[in-house]
Amino acid sequence: MPERSPDAALFDKVVNLCKRRGFVFPSAEIYGGFRSTYDYGPIGVLLLRNVKDAWWRSMVQLRDDIVGLDAAILSPPAVWEASGHLATFSDPLVDCRHCGTRHRQDELDDPDVCPTCGTRGSFTEPRQFNLMFKTHAGPVEDDASVAYLRPETAQGIFVNFANVVNTSRKRPPFGIAQIGKSFRNEITTGNFVFRTREFEQMEMEYFVPPGDGPRWFEYWCAERLRWYVDHGIPERLLRLRSHDPDELSHYSSGTSDVEFLFPWGWGELEGIAQRTDFDLTRHAEHSGEKLDWFDQASGTRYVPHVVEPAAGATRTMMAFLMAAYDEEEVRGETRTVLRLHHRLAPYKVAVLPLSKKAELTGPAREVLGRLQPRFMCDYDETQAIGRRYRRQDELGTPFCVTLDFESLEDEAVTVRDRDSMDQDRVAVEELVPYLEERLEP
Ligand code: GAP
Repeated sequence: MPERSPDAALFDKVVNLCKRRGFVFPSAEIYGGFRSTYDYGPIGVLLLRNVKDAWWRSMVQLRDDIVGLDAAILSPPAVWEASGHLATFSDPLVDCRHCGTRHRQDELDDPDVCPTCGTRGSFTEPRQFNLMFKTHAGPVEDDASVAYLRPETAQGIFVNFANVVNTSRKRPPFGIAQIGKSFRNEITTGNFVFRTREFEQMEMEYFVPPGDGPRWFEYWCAERLRWYVDHGIPERLLRLRSHDPDELSHYSSGTSDVEFLFPWGWGELEGIAQRTDFDLTRHAEHSGEKLDWFDQASGTRYVPHVVEPAAGATRTMMAFLMAAYDEEEVRGETRTVLRLHHRLAPYKVAVLPLSKKAELTGPAREVLGRLQPRFMCDYDETQAIGRRYRRQDELGTPFCVTLDFESLEDEAVTVRDRDSMDQDRVAVEELVPYLEERLEP
């Protein structure tokens, strides 16, 4: 594991909270877990969905120059041959002849010393290990049935370029956005969901006239950095880092990463790359199809250049959790609260009757029924009210609505704000507009 900053305790607290409150569980846990794969529990699935929805909202819903796509995860070798992934999407591996452990050569502190047993000069010659998961489509496992699980969602966009152009009436500059699972047989996984073999990406390929690439690259770097700030990550925890030439992917002429200050140091959330005309040109060559654009105004035909903001949904979710985690002293006790942006909060409202008596739970369920069509709600009638508030604070729920015996008289409820803990008495009839006014869509 990389060196931890003094804030290492934060990492353990967030991982612990994720397990304890149902955000993230190790996959196949009852069988001892499975190789750095994770399942998203009842709360995590809501948070992850909200992260993806927030991205989709800003990329597709609020713009008229970007359309969506959902391409297949399985694809034939021809796609990866053309994209260059079969030839170059690999890491150098070495084996220690002394203890038998395997390592990524480019991650070793000393390329001559095994970090497991300390032996010098025991490594085999490096060999390239392709990170793509290979499988077979159909009942026969032969060369003709080989398929790959996509290691990035981007290629599904490039191979659909002509389909989208022919059906969507978009013209450069325009983009195609996609959210979905990607798979990489990573040699080194770790830091919880930061690097896993199965993960979700949120990628957008923006097609522009040749020559306009650098301008749009600047635009998307600024735009994407702003998205994280707008969704609650403080600027001091974010930075843009430009890749050194020897770091660049095989398709990129320039890349900047949006990085987040994780407890162990700066880590990538998103790469913004100038993919030039590399992908469309390669797919046109390999498939024999025309993947270009005829500009009627100038009477010229060109292969658009691509600027790609490519983010990880699962990794970004983790950054939002780390940034939102807070502890404060309240009347001599520590209160843990997730100060998540309202748009990302798993539940927007929790309905909490003060007592389990039917006298109160009946009306509480009626209030719940009013709120559910508008907001994702939780309902909880167990334990003392203070403990229920603490639980909702840990889930990041912006508002708790409490019904007490007085509610039966005045037809009003108490609304408690997660961050300030201030309480308002609100008429049941006014509750939906009250919450709508305070919760951003
Ligand atoms: N299409 C370009 C592309 O895939 P990338 O930098 O390899 O670029 C984009 O991946 C984002 O996907 C990363 O910034 C990261 O957030 C996420 N990502 C990549 N590999 C990951 C892994 N093994 N586990 C979790 N997230 C990953």
